[in-house]
Amino acid sequence: MTEQKSEPVLKVLIVGDLGTGKTSIVKRYVENYFSEYYKATIGCDFALKVLKWTDDQVIRLQLWDISGHERLGSLTRIYYKDAVGCLLVFDMHKPTTFDGVLKWKNDLDNKVQLSDGTLLPCVLLANKCDLPKQDIVTDIEQMDDFCRVNGICKWFETSAKKNLNIETSIRYLIGQIMKNE
Ligand code: GTP
Ligand code: MG
Repeated sequence: MTEQKSEPVLKVLIVGDLGTGKTSIVKRYVENYFSEYYKATIGCDFALKVLKWTDDQVIRLQLWDISGHERLGSLTRIYYKDAVGCLLVFDMHKPTTFDGVLKWKNDLDNKVQLSDGTLLPCVLLANKCDLPKQDIVTDIEQMDDFCRVNGICKWFETSAKKNLNIETSIRYLIGQIMKNE
């Protein structure tokens, strides 16, 4: 008889400034759906994806999609509770949203840690890479340095619209999380 492996439930946060594409990333990943229509998230939305991690390992991924407004709100501590990883999202075409990345990272690091006291693994998504290139992400080494200096595991250019790197970046984050499980 083959032994049934447990199915870990991983709570993953998706944070970043308004309109950067967090909800679109979740919708693309979970439902393979994209809309041009922008409807701001109020508070926090939830989605669940059950995924095959290895041949004998299933993971239940809980995605907590937090409104860009919430960084200035008082609820993030509650939303962050028991999370084990985070996707930090910015819009490659809006420099102010890149400034938002460290504000979100600091908010996160100040309010949540893993059970052993270490910081949550974070992956940075430079979203909307389907649009014509802008200055923010021209220097790959500079982006690598930015991640290293600020304790971010890795960064990816993504497009929820064109479905570029969405699955790859999320699987990468899960890999980092599973090292801690
Ligand atoms: P809040 O909930 O307000 O924090 O925003 P959000 O980060 O959830 O952004 P949302 O996913 O709602 O997307 C905002 C707008 O950007 C929508 O009009 C989307 O269609 C558009 N958008 C999202 N991802 C992409 C992308 O990869 N490429 C392009 N071209 N547009 C995108
Ligand atoms: Mg949203």
